[in-house]
Amino acid sequence: MADINKLHFNNKGEKIMVNNILIIGSGGREHALAWKLAQSPRIGRLYVAPGNGGTRDIAENIAIKATDAKVLARFAKKNSIVLTVVGPDDPLALGVVDVFQSRGLRIFGPTRGAAQIEASKAFAKRLMRNSGIPTAPFRIFRKYNNALNYVRKHGAPVVVKASGLALGKGAYPCKTLAKAEKALAEIMLERAHKQAGNEVIVEEFLDGQEISIHALCDGKTSVLLPTAQDHKPIFDGDKGKNTGGMGTIAPVPWINAQTLRDVNEQIVRPTLRALTKKRRSFTGCLYPGLKMTNEGSKVLEYNARLGDPETQSYMRLLKTDLLDVLDACVDGKLSELTIEWNSGFAVCVVLASGGYPEKYKEKIPIFGISEAEKIPGVIIFHAGTMYSDQLQTSGGRVLGITAIGETLQETLNRAYEAIRQIKFKGMQYRKDIGAKIISMGF
Ligand code: AMP
Ligand code: GLY
Repeated sequence: MADINKLHFNNKGEKIMVNNILIIGSGGREHALAWKLAQSPRIGRLYVAPGNGGTRDIAENIAIKATDAKVLARFAKKNSIVLTVVGPDDPLALGVVDVFQSRGLRIFGPTRGAAQIEASKAFAKRLMRNSGIPTAPFRIFRKYNNALNYVRKHGAPVVVKASGLALGKGAYPCKTLAKAEKALAEIMLERAHKQAGNEVIVEEFLDGQEISIHALCDGKTSVLLPTAQDHKPIFDGDKGKNTGGMGTIAPVPWINAQTLRDVNEQIVRPTLRALTKKRRSFTGCLYPGLKMTNEGSKVLEYNARLGDPETQSYMRLLKTDLLDVLDACVDGKLSELTIEWNSGFAVCVVLASGGYPEKYKEKIPIFGISEAEKIPGVIIFHAGTMYSDQLQTSGGRVLGITAIGETLQETLNRAYEAIRQIKFKGMQYRKDIGAKIISMGF
């Protein structure tokens, strides 16, 4: 890898300066970001902290925890890091951006104050209510008995949510009262999500398809990425417990330009304005998860970061140099940049450990990745993997099988053909990623 300040030449023969970059995180999203950044002509040294078994092949993995902000900042200073990119939610919620900025270090992501929009669902719900942003009607509880009485009065279906960060597993859509009571007990009595369950939201159950909106923000301007659709529950047909996300397709073909403009005007821009008014101006990626109901689009939750696995699909479609995009966000210059996307579709199907999203085994050998990557259009991003003599599992979501193609069906075929080459004991995945959209005739 090249050193910082080493000069490269672009295709016009002009000299360009290279940049050392640090990515914080260890999931499929971070592998996909590293893969895309590694293609930039301006890239110098590329580090991922802590990284995974896939990032070690294209970057240097650094053994620092994603939540260790001060150690990360020291590393960035010492290694002349020009830009740090934060992947996951917890470092943002803990204030990694504030720590870096206070030391004059450039970093992509919102401050701790702005990241509250994800870290506290209670904060987000109140902000939406006060700003007239469409979302499910809700109540917030701190006491189990009050929540229980309310749920018994309200009846099912209902959704019970831990307010804090819970690895995507803190929301319990409950079709029956018994399930809602169990969810309350799990969060508030058994403390399944620890202090993330100090406050609990009980909200109306919304029907409709879910989509993921991603808005890149530089504090003044915001730009929407293509729409994506995630599949949260562990089993086909949206059954079973929620996970961090089992697979994505992008773009969502039935979302037209007018719907997207409405989402921008009614949700994204008012949210950013409300945050600015609270002196929590947002820089980075604001990712509202939406339910497209008969009454229009409603916010299920906000994330203050890029989605995973959405980002794995996005990086396959992005044409523009990712470093240019991230620089524009950090420098307040988004209005000067046109972000270009390849046509066609990208999908990501997640291969997870047996037992995920509950208990699962680790250190299980993984086979067949190079055979799978021979399928046209397929690239595999690693999440819970590590090397110890050979590639093995080290997490719940293990691999993201991404494919690109002209049509959605062709793209899905490629991803599932690749999956047939891969084996690890206990491997589970959804066989119906994108199926709802295919059944709509796309
Ligand atoms: P959240 O963490 O709030 O995004 O919720 C995780 C998942 O739970 C969402 O992606 C939905 O699938 C489901 N969910 C959350 N809120 C609702 C709701 N009000 N109605 C129906 N499903 C919901
Ligand atoms: N795609 C789910 C998430 O990133 O939270």
